[in-house]
Amino acid sequence: MATITLHPDFRIGPVDRRVFGSFVEHLGRCVYTGVYEPGHDSADEFGFRGDVAELTKELGVTLVRYPGGNFVSNYVWEDAVGPVEDRKPFLDLAWRTVEPNLVGTDEFLQYCERQGLEPMMAVNLGTRGVAEAVALLEYCNGEAGTKWADMRIANGREKPYGVKLWCLGNEMDGPWQIGHKDAHEYGKLAAEAGKAMRLTDPSIELVACGSSSMQMDTFGAWERTVLSYTYDIVDHISMHAYYEEVDGDRASFLGSGTAMERFVERVVASADAVGAEKRSDKRITISFDEWNVWYLTTRFPGETNLPIQRDAPRIIEDRYSGLDAVVVGDLITTLLRHTDRIAIGCLAQLVNVIAPIMTDPAGAAWRQTTFHPFAEAARLATGEALQVQVDAESMATAKHGDVPTVTAAATVDPATGKLALFVTNRSDAEQTVTLRHPGATARIDGGTAVLADFEGARETQEHAEAYAPVDALPVEHGDGTITLRLAPESWTAFHGTMES
Ligand code: AHR
Repeated sequence: MATITLHPDFRIGPVDRRVFGSFVEHLGRCVYTGVYEPGHDSADEFGFRGDVAELTKELGVTLVRYPGGNFVSNYVWEDAVGPVEDRKPFLDLAWRTVEPNLVGTDEFLQYCERQGLEPMMAVNLGTRGVAEAVALLEYCNGEAGTKWADMRIANGREKPYGVKLWCLGNEMDGPWQIGHKDAHEYGKLAAEAGKAMRLTDPSIELVACGSSSMQMDTFGAWERTVLSYTYDIVDHISMHAYYEEVDGDRASFLGSGTAMERFVERVVASADAVGAEKRSDKRITISFDEWNVWYLTTRFPGETNLPIQRDAPRIIEDRYSGLDAVVVGDLITTLLRHTDRIAIGCLAQLVNVIAPIMTDPAGAAWRQTTFHPFAEAARLATGEALQVQVDAESMATAKHGDVPTVTAAATVDPATGKLALFVTNRSDAEQTVTLRHPGATARIDGGTAVLADFEGARETQEHAEAYAPVDALPVEHGDGTITLRLAPESWTAFHGTMES
């Protein structure tokens, strides 16, 4: 038996819809035979797959990060603009794949415009530096009359793209990163690149690289040092986190949202400590620009073992289960509980590579299990996030200690009174929840649940496609409370109304 208490006056802050972002990297089949496949039955005149675009819309993605990821750290963006027939293939060292450069900055940004997606660009601070970052920004956002803006115009695009969001490199703390740096080297470079980029276009928002995960030896010290150089220049610090079930430790995997929450709290603490030392009123927010379930240690062979490949090889095409969908739902719930500090979120990645959408070359596109919780949350979470008080039993986990069996996030749209309540039941027993709503009238009109208990979604495409949210268990309205029932190991998205 658990209790959830909501009060309409206790709010965390507006839900930034950029938290429903995703990520397209030149990795495996994310771009080629993923979003882009000229000659595909559904392809538009630019070669982008219509079936993938439709599913992206259904998923509710608002923003897309590009072009990497590890890929960006040895990327030469100039090689992928201008007439396609003049572009030369290039060996990407991150994934040891020959990049044909058929899709580059213009193709991506115009795709985003057609789809109504906000682009989030990353610059290469691995093998390159300030000059190339500024050149790319000017190419994207500059007005006619300077070298790089004029190159864009010569390439057929008169109007500046007005890209707002810029990542200053990717995972620069990681020894695997091409051009890896220590925190001082990276902090100084990011500050200089950021300063020059702001002078090029003062309207941009900048993201400094945080740690690649909380497990990095340098975690904490990295954030502190990098922000000591960049605090006044950047808006956001990045976070990346991937979770997986290791050695059948289901309880720890189900508790991943708690690990994510602790990670967020620690990054906020590190950033605020720098702000305090600087006596600054500015608050750095988080760009959680890579998160997902990824069977990284159990199934991925490791970057260094990859042979050189070409023609869009299949790399890290994880298949997901019902349990993975429940965990993804719980991770979204965690992001929504921190909307005051998390400004951006990117489910990594969008298509084929650890992705909610899969494709067959020349064939179908379909949804993985993890598609569903993201789509439900993106559809329902609007307005303001509420502070949610959850009182529930704990469960023991080997990795995270005791974690709550029930977690929740809620949003209310003050204009319409629409309420969304997302609740995870991590335990293997059905749970009854009393929903208290003092100071408001509230109704739950229904809900859908994703369940862990589903066989075969990882094994075959047919099973993956058969996986779908089910109706939530029946709800009972009482005098001032509502009784909810949660299926075992489930994530439920309830919808209703709440008015003071
Ligand atoms: O998303 C896959 C990879 O994970 C990205 O390229 C990298 O940034 C991270 O390590």
